[in-house]
Amino acid sequence: MSQILLAGTATLDIVNTVDHYPQEDDEVRASASRVASGGNAANCAAVLASLGHQAHLCAVLADDASAASVRDALRQAEVDLRHCPQRSGATPTSYITLSAANGSRTIIHHRDLPELESEDIARIPLEDYDWLHFEGRNVATTAHQIRLARRRLRDQPISVEIEKPRPGIQRLFAYADVLLFSRAFALANGFTAAEALLSALRPQAPQAILVCAWGEDGAWALAPGDRRRFDCVHAPAFRTGPVVDTLGAGDTFNAGIIDALCAGAMLEEALAHANRLAGLKVAREGLL
Ligand code: FRU
Repeated sequence: MSQILLAGTATLDIVNTVDHYPQEDDEVRASASRVASGGNAANCAAVLASLGHQAHLCAVLADDASAASVRDALRQAEVDLRHCPQRSGATPTSYITLSAANGSRTIIHHRDLPELESEDIARIPLEDYDWLHFEGRNVATTAHQIRLARRRLRDQPISVEIEKPRPGIQRLFAYADVLLFSRAFALANGFTAAEALLSALRPQAPQAILVCAWGEDGAWALAPGDRRRFDCVHAPAFRTGPVVDTLGAGDTFNAGIIDALCAGAMLEEALAHANRLAGLKVAREGLL
């Protein structure tokens, strides 16, 4: 099993399940309510830990009462928090409406906490890790952190998640070995198919494995050296039953890719493995 460092966010998720998504200005009763840790890097770390890896998270944790719940939940998931700096502020909190009708998750996120700084990464013994994963946010600092890591690593892979269209996010592309794009990112950039996104971005990241998951249509990837949309490999989605909870499905998919590539899997196998984990995840409430 591998030692994996994940840099990004940890949040408190307050998840209310409703029978169907409400209208604006409605008043509805939740059929269930739960509080959990969340955040892309934290979720990915929790899934990797459940797969037997040593998952070390680097995310800013606040000094308020909610931070204790986040710490407890992550410790319970066996995520190592030794590299999480504590800063004064409010725990980033997501207020999530989960629709039992189709598993959609609508997120209202509040954040009032300083971001990770380059020093938070610089002080970690990066050389000890088999794999580094970064959430693509706060572009200037993340680019600096990845460059810094790149200088200190031998040949350990770096993956970067590109989930939201943020100004200048393409600056991160050149430093990654694996780029994990979301469907939301593709759509926001005018691409209606994963293969179109991957082949269009190829010139900006000739060195990287490019991956894009497309929900019920499965996932696509483009190996370094390949550049046309016809070169993309595809694996169909894995469906085990009704979709009940899509919260964290993308994070689970990303963990599956990292897990498979750490084990030396071929790209097509890695996609199938990640789809399987994401498929199992959406069929149940909470992470795997
Ligand atoms: C799911 C998630 C939630 C979190 C939100 C932050 O991918 O990480 O756990 O509240 O996204 O954007």
